[in-house]
Amino acid sequence: MGEEISNKQVILSNYVETSVKESDMSLRTSKIQLKIPSGCDGAVFVKNLYLSIDPYILGRMKKRVPYLSSYTLDSPISGYGVSKVLDSSHPNFKTGELVWGFTDWEEYSLIKDPNILFKVHDKDLPLSYYTGILGMPGMTAYVGFFEFCSPKKGETVYVSAASGAVGQLIGQFAKTAGCYVVGSAGSKEKVGLLKNKLGFDEAFNYKEEQDYDAALKRYFPDGIDIYFDNVGGKMLEAVLNNMRLHGRVALCGMISQYNSLEQSEGVHNLFNVIIKRVRMEGFFTIDHYHLYPKFLEMVVPLINEEKITYVEDIAEGIESAPGALVGLFSGVNVGKQVVVVARE
Ligand SMILES: NC(=O)c1ccc[n+]([C@@H]2O[C@H](COP(=O)([O-])OP(=O)(O)OC[C@H]3O[C@@H](n4cnc5c(N)ncnc54)[C@H](OP(=O)(O)O)[C@@H]3O)[C@@H](O)[C@H]2O)c1
Repeated sequence: MGEEISNKQVILSNYVETSVKESDMSLRTSKIQLKIPSGCDGAVFVKNLYLSIDPYILGRMKKRVPYLSSYTLDSPISGYGVSKVLDSSHPNFKTGELVWGFTDWEEYSLIKDPNILFKVHDKDLPLSYYTGILGMPGMTAYVGFFEFCSPKKGETVYVSAASGAVGQLIGQFAKTAGCYVVGSAGSKEKVGLLKNKLGFDEAFNYKEEQDYDAALKRYFPDGIDIYFDNVGGKMLEAVLNNMRLHGRVALCGMISQYNSLEQSEGVHNLFNVIIKRVRMEGFFTIDHYHLYPKFLEMVVPLINEEKITYVEDIAEGIESAPGALVGLFSGVNVGKQVVVVARE
C-alpha cells in the first residue's frame, strides 16, 4: 500500500435538467494512494495542474444525451486537463513527465485507461496552453477550419462565439489563410478584443442586434464563403440566408441550444443549402487526433513567431471550477476558460 494523501474533488451532486447551476456540483475531500495500486497495469497516476472548462461537459451532466456518456452521480466530473505523472505502469508514460488529456476534476487522479493522454512536448510554451491552443480547442479549430472548410485566399469567413477557446483561433487562422474574417461575441469588451488584439477585420455584439440577417448583410454584402458555427439556432438560420455559392459550414457546436437540446430551435431555411450548393458538415475533434502532430507542426512556429496569440481566462483553485463552468453559458469567460489546480 502506498502513502495516502487527501484529494479535493468536484463531484456531480445531481443530474442537470436544463441549465447548469453551481449547486449541481459539490466539493469533497477524499483520500487517494500516492502509488498505482497492484492489479492496475497500464494505469497512470497524476497530479492535476490545469483543468479545461468546456461547454460539452454540460451534456455529460445530463441523464440522457444520446451522443455522450453521462457522468456517474457522486463521482468526480471528468474532462481535459494538464497533469504531471507521479507514477506509471503504462509503457508510454514515465514518472515526472507532463501530459494533457482526459483526467478528473480533482487534485490527484488514477487514470486507468489513458487512451486520450498526450505528452507535453514543448515545455517552453505556457503549460496552460495544453488546455487550449495546444490542446483540444486548438485541434478543434484546426480540424474544423482547415480540414472541413478548405479556406482559400480572399474568401469571407464568419465565426460565432468568436472570442472563446475555439473562436479566437478561427479568426487568426483565417487571417493566416488570407481571408476576410468577421466574428460575433456577446459584449463590447469582447468585440474590442477581436478587433484590436486578435486581428479580426470586423466584429459585432450579437446581443445588440435585433435582426441577425440584417447584421450579416452589413458585414458581408457579397455573402459568406465559410461559416464556423459554434452556436447553432437562429444565428445558423440567418447565416444560411447569407451563404455564397459553394460555401462551407462547419458545424462545431450549438451552445445556444445546450440548455434544452430536446426542444432545440429549428432551422427553417435548409433549402439554401441546396440552391447555393453549400457543404455543411458536423465533426467531433476526438475522431481526428491522428492529425495532432501535423497541427503542432503548424501552430508552434506561429506561436513562437508571435503570429498568433491566445487569450486565456484563468480561475485560481479547484474550488473555482463549478463557477467557471456555469459562466461559460452566460459568456462570463473572456478567452479560454482554465482552472489552475496547482502550478508545477
Ligand atoms: N465538435 C467538437 O468536437 C467541439 C470541440 C470543442 C468545442 N466545441 C464547441 O465549440 C463551441 C465553442 O466552444 P469553446 O470551448 O470555444 O467555448 P467558449 O467560446 O470559450 O465559451 C463559450 C462561449 O459561448 C458563448 N455563448 C454562451 N451562450 C451563448 C448563446 N446562447 N448564444 C451565443 N453564444 C453563447 C459565450 O460567449 P459570448 O459572450 O460571445 O456569448 C461563451 O463565452 C461550443 O459550442 C462547443 O460545444 C465542439
